[in-house]
Amino acid sequence: MTRRVLDVPGIAYGGDYNPEQWPQEVWAEDMRLMTEAGVNMVSVNIFSWALLEPAEGEYDFSRLDRVLDMLYAHGIAADLATPTAAPPAWFFRAHPEALPVDRDGRGLSYGSRQTFCPSSPAYREAALRVARALGERYAGHPAVVMWHVHNEYGCHNAECFCDTSAAAFRSWLRDRYGDDLAALNHAWGTAFWSQWYYDWDEILPPRATGAVPNPAHRLDWRRFSSDELLSLCKAEREVLEQAAPSVPATTNFMVMHNFDALDYWRWAPELDVVSNDHYLRSTDPESEIDIALSGDLVRSLAGGRPWLLMEHSTGAVNWQQVNRAKTPGELRRNALAHVARGADGIAYFQWRAAKAGAEQWHSAMLPHAGTDSVIWRDVVQLGSDLRSLAEVRGSTGTAETAIVWDWDAKWAVELPSQPSESVRYLELIRSWYEPLWRAGVAVDFVRPDADLSAYRLVLAPSLYLVDDAGAANLASFAERGGTLAVGFHSGAVDENCHVRLGGYPGAFRDVLGVRSDELFPLLPGERAGLDTGGTGSLWSERVRLAGARAVSSYADGPLKGVPAVTRHDYGTGTAWYLATLPDPDTLGALLARVREEAGVRPVLEGVPSGVEAVRRRGPAADFVFLVDHTGQGAEVAVSAEAVELLTGTPLPGGSVSVPPGGVAVVREPRGA
Ligand code: GAL
Repeated sequence: MTRRVLDVPGIAYGGDYNPEQWPQEVWAEDMRLMTEAGVNMVSVNIFSWALLEPAEGEYDFSRLDRVLDMLYAHGIAADLATPTAAPPAWFFRAHPEALPVDRDGRGLSYGSRQTFCPSSPAYREAALRVARALGERYAGHPAVVMWHVHNEYGCHNAECFCDTSAAAFRSWLRDRYGDDLAALNHAWGTAFWSQWYYDWDEILPPRATGAVPNPAHRLDWRRFSSDELLSLCKAEREVLEQAAPSVPATTNFMVMHNFDALDYWRWAPELDVVSNDHYLRSTDPESEIDIALSGDLVRSLAGGRPWLLMEHSTGAVNWQQVNRAKTPGELRRNALAHVARGADGIAYFQWRAAKAGAEQWHSAMLPHAGTDSVIWRDVVQLGSDLRSLAEVRGSTGTAETAIVWDWDAKWAVELPSQPSESVRYLELIRSWYEPLWRAGVAVDFVRPDADLSAYRLVLAPSLYLVDDAGAANLASFAERGGTLAVGFHSGAVDENCHVRLGGYPGAFRDVLGVRSDELFPLLPGERAGLDTGGTGSLWSERVRLAGARAVSSYADGPLKGVPAVTRHDYGTGTAWYLATLPDPDTLGALLARVREEAGVRPVLEGVPSGVEAVRRRGPAADFVFLVDHTGQGAEVAVSAEAVELLTGTPLPGGSVSVPPGGVAVVREPRGA
């Protein structure tokens, strides 16, 4: 598809703007304060369906007309949303069959949001009707610079187990298996436990049953559920595109914790602009690493191009057990860290803190306390910071290291009845990502079958499921001179969750030069000593060398003397196997060695620990972001031709001061 470009000057800045929550007298104040804060784009209409279409096919555009005109008059662009994440009550009264049914057969009610059956024809028809009406009315409106399709597809409930969904699932399966029921039976291994299907109509969604479900059935269901929502997103996008062929479209992803319903590798190519929502977890003492990981993943989904941070929070959210406010300077560090990872827009949920409704205790750009507040002052300061960074727009990343990320592998390894329930995909990825973050190494994320020619080092911390093409791609990367490191329990099964026979780690035995005949996962809290120092946790297996050499072996326990970490010369490259999860220091030291062997350098040498350094590359200059997480500040050596952009200060002394808990952004001419 031809990708349309978002036309907002510099870095976009704003948030979800929900003026329908307020009397109209407040709107003029909103415009004045948005201007004061330097807001240049807001997302409107996200949850306004009930007010916009009071009865089927009857529209009241008066409110939205006025809002868009006011925004335009104040030079603020609109990212205009289709409101299809929150169908009105009248719709469900007319179409109760469009309400979803959960795995246990419990029908859900309306009265909240994001509660509908993705396969419901009535829902699809209503969603496309309102999208078409919006498209036709506002295609030429000068405020509208982008379509915001729906809101966070997959949030809250992405699956529906009703009979309509069952029929849609069967038709998706017929497609996948070429209408060949025997192929499905083989792929799902239905000879096991008498699950053989003789008729397509016998196949159901994986509803609650008395015992463990069939893994391939569950995995195909997850693929189907992601595709079903994607087809809704594409249908809305097409309707909007017909009305306004030049306006780009996005939908907001949430790639980290909150939900993992969608295979975003399949979604991203369908959008003009990739955007993401990110929220801090109150329980994470190092949220900055989560932000970095999320940003690197989103930039990678966007094919390396800049992306938009569509939502994050100025302070506390309202959906965790305890919702912590941000510490001094954290709002600025968070926002600029997203810019450092490639965001060309920074937006919040939401503009004005709500007085009523489910999210009345969620922070906003304009808090309940009003403008005499720390949050408001920080919001105004951030607007000014982002204006100073306008020239960063369009610049990209510089990674020579890639981490393999795959939703099929994530879904599969977290299915029930695994060797260990403690293996959690995101936790493993983060364990490997953390030492790279601490060392200031730039990272991209890739699919197993990606073109890897730009990388020196490829890490696959957790790739339980891999198809033949993905496995061959990774092996040939090592064979042609790359450095590959693979984590335990990878390559174990194929795309149908069938175990790869002949020893573990299945698909990677040859490239890694090892063959394990039995798995010995460790109990929660259990540690296995390593003869080179440190311990392993979570996993061990009886690795036998088949070409590789042992780098580290178990010093105790049932596998005493068995290799835990191996290294294999393969072709002109190298392949490492980590058959356990080393403790953080040991893993850090090991990955530093792997990285040095691969010739991967940090973004900037000599940066004190706890100061994050990230580089964006433009055509004529590099932009180095330095974010201090130590609270101490730092002095960092840079080129003598560099300029600090937030303060506009030239740095002829060849050094920049990063304020305590603050940020510096340095422009270095290329080649300096
Ligand atoms: C997001 C959602 C927003 C708002 C926000 C609160 O997941 O898209 O509408 O609910 O969470 O943190």
